[in-house]
Amino acid sequence: MKSWIWLLALGCSTPAPEVPTPPPTPAVDVSKYTGIFQGPLPARWDRAGDPALEQKVQLGRILYYDPALSLNNDISCNSCHQLDRFGVDNQPTSPGHQGQRGDRNSPTVYNAAGHFVQFWDGRAVDVEAQAKGPILNPIEMAMPSEPEVIQRLSAKEEYKKLFADAFPGVSDPITYDNLAAAIGAFERRLSTPGRFDKFLGGDGAALTPEEVAGLDLFVSSGCVACHGGTLVGGTMYQKIGVVKPYETADLGRQKVTNAPADEKMFKVPSLRNISKTGPYFHDGSVATLDDAIRKMGEHQLGKTFTDAEVASIATFLGALDGEVDAAYIAKPAIP
Ligand code: HEC
Ligand code: HEC
Repeated sequence: MKSWIWLLALGCSTPAPEVPTPPPTPAVDVSKYTGIFQGPLPARWDRAGDPALEQKVQLGRILYYDPALSLNNDISCNSCHQLDRFGVDNQPTSPGHQGQRGDRNSPTVYNAAGHFVQFWDGRAVDVEAQAKGPILNPIEMAMPSEPEVIQRLSAKEEYKKLFADAFPGVSDPITYDNLAAAIGAFERRLSTPGRFDKFLGGDGAALTPEEVAGLDLFVSSGCVACHGGTLVGGTMYQKIGVVKPYETADLGRQKVTNAPADEKMFKVPSLRNISKTGPYFHDGSVATLDDAIRKMGEHQLGKTFTDAEVASIATFLGALDGEVDAAYIAKPAIP
């Protein structure tokens, strides 16, 4: 081996000597999945054509963290949907006003703006409409009325300026609708792109072979009949217990429509970041992801998965963890 002499003689501009490369692993044909999952997660779900959008986002971030939106000044949106914990509090149900708990699990706010409707039962059309609910909910933030919320915010000089900047040319910018619009504008950028998006973007090596095997099982088992699209869910309502009845006292969508056909219908949740957002199901009654997968197989597909199959699907679901933009969610100064 005299190649070092050649290297010395030729100097640094020589191309590196050829090193034998291991045979390439067969490339994954990503295109077969893009019909099911459409494509990578959008970076944001902004409402187009708003010249004061940046100001609305900034105001929305402050409101999101402000406990002044709760009767006792102790609960903010972030109490139940913690932005540094993938948008949840990891409790079956969340403590609200005076520690009271509702009967539903707090879903994540990450990527929620991309869902076709909001709440487990879809009773709000978008994140703006949704944001009006918890502030006045007696067991959540418990403010007595819209005017009282507005009165509180109007008493602070900083909010006068922030609302005026976010809603330019409006004579009374501090309104309940505008508060909801600002919070919504902030939530519309809570996107968590990750490796699965690189994969859907065409990079077949972005997932490990084990994750791709889990993905294939997720597809072939029929999970994607309901959990499809870029959010791996969030596009439709479905009954819990479609094949084998599922015990729950919650009527789901029927509470909203009164239609018997909507009994136990829920929005199919997005599975983005699902390994981080337990416990699971509308009531938070399922503690582990493995158990959620097993129950889905049984009640939604009539399949009894082996432990190895559950583990394989869980491995794929772990690849749905994305990245949180730490600068975007940094807690601002509260007026
Ligand atoms: C006391 C806990 C609590 C507080 C405070 C709270 N939420 Fe929620 N949030 C929940 C629960 C529980 C649900 C699900 C309720 C349901 O579906 O019936 C929910 C649902 C949501 C959803 C729907 C997500 C989806 O996948 O459908 C969004 C978005 C949301 N909250 C944002 C907010 C915002 C913004 C605030 C502040 C204005 C807020 N929440 C305050 C507990 C809370
Ligand atoms: C027929 C439609 C349907 C099929 C098929 C289906 N799911 Fe679901 N999935 C749902 C619905 C509806 C919920 C919400 C149920 C509830 O909360 O009561 C859900 C909830 C989940 C959850 C919990 C999400 C959360 O945030 O709590 C996981 C995990 C899940 N599904 C995974 C799977 C897997 C894995 C498969 C395939 C083995 C699958 N699902 C098949 C409709 C479906």
